[in-house]
Amino acid sequence: MNVKLTNGKVIPIEMHKIRIVQKANLVPIDRRLEAIEEGGYNTVLLRTRDVFLDMLTDSGTNAMSDNQLAAMMVADDAYAGGESYYKLKDAIKDVLGLEYYLPVHPGRAAEHLLGRVFVRPGMVIPMNYHFTTTRAHFEMCGGRVLEIYGHDALETESSNPFKGNLDLEKFQAVIDEHGPENIAFVRMEATTNLIGGQPFSLENLRAVSEMASKHGILVVLDGSLISENAYFIKRREAKYMNATVAEITKEMMSLVDILYLSGRKSACVRGGFIATNSKELFEKIKPWLPLFEGFLTYGGMSSKEIEAMAVGIREMVDINVASSSADLIEYFVNRMVEEGIPAVTPPGGLAGHVDAHKFLPHLGSFDYPAGALSAAIYIASGARPMERGTISLDRDENGNELASDIELARLAVPRRVYTMAHMEYVVDRLKWLYANRNLIGGLKFTEEPPVLRFFFGRLEAVDGWGKKLAEAFKADFGADC
Ligand SMILES: Cc1ncc(COP(=O)(O)O)c(C=O)c1O
Repeated sequence: MNVKLTNGKVIPIEMHKIRIVQKANLVPIDRRLEAIEEGGYNTVLLRTRDVFLDMLTDSGTNAMSDNQLAAMMVADDAYAGGESYYKLKDAIKDVLGLEYYLPVHPGRAAEHLLGRVFVRPGMVIPMNYHFTTTRAHFEMCGGRVLEIYGHDALETESSNPFKGNLDLEKFQAVIDEHGPENIAFVRMEATTNLIGGQPFSLENLRAVSEMASKHGILVVLDGSLISENAYFIKRREAKYMNATVAEITKEMMSLVDILYLSGRKSACVRGGFIATNSKELFEKIKPWLPLFEGFLTYGGMSSKEIEAMAVGIREMVDINVASSSADLIEYFVNRMVEEGIPAVTPPGGLAGHVDAHKFLPHLGSFDYPAGALSAAIYIASGARPMERGTISLDRDENGNELASDIELARLAVPRRVYTMAHMEYVVDRLKWLYANRNLIGGLKFTEEPPVLRFFFGRLEAVDGWGKKLAEAFKADFGADC
């Protein structure tokens, strides 16, 4: 929640008490340099013992509530028919209004099943933007992802409150060009991850849903950050100002045929599910579940996680939970902007994002600016961001490199984990880095995996710039911090 102070300043305030904590550790700059070199200049490959603030992702890294932890103690570990399954079924029905659900291991397992059941070679899948695993799964099934976002979705500095909207004219053009029978489904992602956690409006979702149903096209929602998208609708779409996050969430659900999500985000747990009100669609997917995930009543998840998810789904629509990370991100982004750091605006869900092209204008896309900036942020601060740019985009089928539309260093803000002081620290180190940006050079691959290369890829700093950056840092702050 945001509160206004007597001096007029607005700050995010924690609407929870922190009763269990995990010790943090800031290793000195020399060790940070060694660690990033050992990790092949890939922040994914760092060990957490070398990480001060883990801002790689909000996925599975959120603080769970006391009630979620308590629920884990009463899990029913049956192979089939376990009561935990039915508790989550009730929560999905109550909160989302959806009758049928299939638990899956993580969110990408849902993408795998949807791809297998609905995507045929030659089909297209229009969407507001792709996510890495989404694209890989649908392409593996022979489909082609078409991104049909609005004209300013990729502009990192913007005042458009809904950069995650699908462009309706382009959607019509896709229908006309390919024919509804060749469209596997239209996919909407709640707070489009790779363009800076930007939401779509309810008005846009309604229009997409009406167009799709006119042509018999299924609407699939990736709702991994559904409660944050609902919270942004409440804050930014005048018509819904007085609606609750719970009401908005339910209304979103009434406009889609299938919801899938990674439970690692809004629901503050791990695992995921696919849910629908259509028995026919449910029955189409169900036979594949035991083959790839597990029997229907656990679907590859531990029953402890299913119990915690049942609580998390109910809690996520509480405005104090839905806003817990979004408000801190807003503060973080506003502070970056105040300090002249090229952050993505307006603030979105999931993370504060830095535009690496603007931060490092001397680097081209194939110098991997987002990867270089992410490594440099780690060296300077011990906070680990994630590269969301050209490294995160695999080569095309002919082995050619593709330049990403957008180069972002993503600093995720997991829910209820970090505080304003942590954000202030990161902003300060970013400010120092920005003043020293000319020391940051490009990266080049030393080991490049064939798929989702950002996970295991190893790189090196061109001309050893990491060492020069660490030396400059030591000259300003000493060797101990
Ligand atoms: C929008 C979106 N969809 C799907 C996924 C995949 O979920 P999971 O990590 O649970 O496989 C993610 C993960 O970050 C995501 O952000």
